[in-house]
Amino acid sequence: MAQANGVPGPAQRLPGALRLYINIDHVATIREARKTDEPDPALAARAAETGGADGITFHLREDRRHIQDRDVVGLAATATTPLNFELATSPDIVDLACRIRPHQATLVPERRTEVTTEGGLALDRNDSALSSAIARLKDAGIRTSLFLSPDTRSLDRAAELTVPAIELHTGRYAHTWRDNDAALEQLREAARYARSLGLAVHAGHGLTYLNTAPVARIAEIEELNIGHSVVSRGVFVGIERATTEMVDLVRAARGKA
Ligand code: PXP
Repeated sequence: MAQANGVPGPAQRLPGALRLYINIDHVATIREARKTDEPDPALAARAAETGGADGITFHLREDRRHIQDRDVVGLAATATTPLNFELATSPDIVDLACRIRPHQATLVPERRTEVTTEGGLALDRNDSALSSAIARLKDAGIRTSLFLSPDTRSLDRAAELTVPAIELHTGRYAHTWRDNDAALEQLREAARYARSLGLAVHAGHGLTYLNTAPVARIAEIEELNIGHSVVSRGVFVGIERATTEMVDLVRAARGKA
């Protein structure tokens, strides 16, 4: 099926496989350090696509610290793979998403003082901003995912909100994987539980070349979103090669699942 943004759907690209979306925010972070016009995140997206990314993820934050509105418009015009637009519930950003109609939108929590998205959404029963954002994105034909901590309460609430997908926050795993397997087991259980509720399962945050394989082996996970580590490696080898290395790693891990 054609997507909202007119590019081929993931099912046409990768039947049954784990999709790898590359988050290009931190290419814009480098540019914003100088408020200039390089490096261009749209060119990074092109390189990631050439390197084998199944899709491109970006986060337009309320404080516009990295990706800018013009980047979103540029990515919508030039990306050849599905776009995953991460956003909080600010009405102006939801408006922009509905206008450019990416394949997917992932709703995330935002705090101005955080360095990065520190936790999952707190799914409050009376969160009218969240319900309204979900309804508006759905009306625009955009697949909607919620970024959540890997706990059953959040997953139950997401199922009640009737979204098709959730993304499990892998931050706790990323901080503790060297010491013990508890956070990995929590991800495994959450992925299984989310699937049992009929939710498509995505995962991301803090995944690197060293810690991604065990997450990629979780059979219920169908999409990974990885940014900082790939852009960091891209500084040395280029975004295209850095993406291919992550694609190869994920495919090899999934092959051994
Ligand atoms: N998924 C979500 C919802 C995120 O907010 C982020 C960070 O923007 C990522 C994945 C990617 O995290 P990282 O840059 O640590 O790979």
